[in-house]
Amino acid sequence: MSTDDSIKVSPLPKGLNRLRMPDHIAVIMDGNGRWAKAKGLPRTMGHTAGVESLKNTLNLCSKWGIGALTVYAFSTENWSRPSDEVNFLMTLFESVLKRELNSLKLKEVKINFLGDLDPLPIALKDLINESVESTAKNKGIHFNVCTNYGGRRELVLAAQKLAERSVKGELDPSLIDENIFASELFTASETDPDLLIRTSGEKRISNFLLWQLAYAEIHVTDVLWPDFNADALIKALLDYQSRRRRFGGV
Ligand code: IPE
Ligand code: IPE
Ligand code: MG
Repeated sequence: MSTDDSIKVSPLPKGLNRLRMPDHIAVIMDGNGRWAKAKGLPRTMGHTAGVESLKNTLNLCSKWGIGALTVYAFSTENWSRPSDEVNFLMTLFESVLKRELNSLKLKEVKINFLGDLDPLPIALKDLINESVESTAKNKGIHFNVCTNYGGRRELVLAAQKLAERSVKGELDPSLIDENIFASELFTASETDPDLLIRTSGEKRISNFLLWQLAYAEIHVTDVLWPDFNADALIKALLDYQSRRRRFGGV
């Protein structure tokens, strides 16, 4: 567990086994647009509603002693959406982070942002830096927000960094192994996710954590992200605990 012993852990809901909890959960938070459409609302209202599901999920994971929660907030492909929606999302990320930073600090959450943050609006980048720095020493759950994240981009960037180090003579290419490779990924300090949850029923990983999900257990639910609640999370955890992880063994 990456959480400190001093962090209080609440009793688990009935049926869940403390000894078989995932240490790291990854989530593809999908279905905001469809949730809004079904209610006759603009897609953007789905994103606003999705923030509440995220807060709730983070609080539950923290309470139940999960070591890390890594969520997909914006992919490298999401720039292809209409500019109104992209701008709305950037403004939403900024306002939510501003509003929630204090509460994250009080809950000992260690927040990080994974992805190519360069193209993000400057005000958002400043706030991201502030929130990462000011929570870096927190002892609670690691909360990783994948923003302008793409698994392929991450792998290419890692390859570039390793190549640069090799050219400078700092690294012998023949010594590059899985650990050295993983140390150049955005997730360098994190264990691999044990459980991947995808909402909205889509059975694909959409360029998320291509390297890190190698042996994750996958739980797909039809629940749309703004409707994802404690019951849906418990279902995912029960599903996870019913699996036999073999890692290629027998
Ligand atoms: C996920 O919901 C949120 C982001 C990708 C930012 P969507 O916006 O993809 O919602 P659907 O899939 O269109 O319903
Ligand atoms: C994945 O959802 C990205 C995020 C949840 C941020 P998308 O809605 O972008 O994925 P596709 O287009 O259905 O594969
Ligand atoms: Mg979607």
